[in-house]
Amino acid sequence: MSLQKPRALITGACSGIGLAIARELARRGWDLCVASENRARLEGAASELRALGISVDDVVMDLSEPSSAKALFDAATRDGAVVDALVCNAGFFFFGEVADADPERAERMLALHVVVPSLLCTYFAKEFRRRKRGHVMLVSSISAFRDFPGIAYYASSKKYLRGFARSLRCELAAYGVSVTCLLPGATATALYDPDVVPVELASRLGVMMPPERVAREGVEAMLRGEAESVPGVFNRAVVRAVGYVPQVAIDAVRRWGPWLRATEP
Ligand SMILES: NC(=O)c1ccc[n+]([C@@H]2O[C@H](COP(=O)([O-])OP(=O)(O)OC[C@H]3O[C@@H](n4cnc5c(N)ncnc54)[C@H](OP(=O)(O)O)[C@@H]3O)[C@@H](O)[C@H]2O)c1
Repeated sequence: MSLQKPRALITGACSGIGLAIARELARRGWDLCVASENRARLEGAASELRALGISVDDVVMDLSEPSSAKALFDAATRDGAVVDALVCNAGFFFFGEVADADPERAERMLALHVVVPSLLCTYFAKEFRRRKRGHVMLVSSISAFRDFPGIAYYASSKKYLRGFARSLRCELAAYGVSVTCLLPGATATALYDPDVVPVELASRLGVMMPPERVAREGVEAMLRGEAESVPGVFNRAVVRAVGYVPQVAIDAVRRWGPWLRATEP
């Protein structure tokens, strides 16, 4: 029996849900390879995680570059290092209609949410399939359950991840490799511009979940090999109900709500 500790690669692990997933796995004795774009934040997170008594490799990389998938695979598996779980979590968010989107920002989002996680899955799935073990977790969002005008780039990229996870799960099931899609609802993290979304207030009112709870439910689901995890009773009720909400109601929220408001024609 191998005495080597299991090791996870987590993207976007320097803050929010990714950092909480890293802490959750560290507490369970996993070694980590963490990747993010901001050097200072990542190094801070890595030294905090090392203080929990585990080994942590940190990789500073802009994961909105399509070529970063291969570069990150190479970095995480350097010198024969083994990865037992791949967690694709890095992401960002913006409000705005498709016609108003900054094309460069939109392209970065599609690379970060769609291209790079998909290619990371290709590289690691090959390894996991060969070893006949491994876990993949793709972090999507409850926005994947409907069409959301006003956040079309974000929600559609998360929809892609959900579908991709389901297909990949079927492909890898026969090899003993699990694929889990984590679909958080509103979570109190740095994802939102605090000048636009009152994260602290929403968190105090219980409208937003703490990232630690999201991470705990996600990690438990991943280790149990579940297909999907929607953390929080309220969010699970929302995804059950959301299929019955007519699109006209979503359009009304967009028209009259403060965030998804349409540009006047
Ligand atoms: N918060 C929510 O309400 C919510 C709900 C559903 C789903 N999610 C999803 O959860 C995931 C984590 O988000 P979060 O809420 O924890 O937000 P967060 O605290 O802002 O974390 C985002 C992470 O992604 C990393 N990242 C962003 N752009 C990157 C890039 N180009 N290259 C490398 N890393 C990059 C960030 O690292 P740097 O700081 O180094 O850029 C950071 O570590 C995202 O995929 C998000 O869509 C969040």
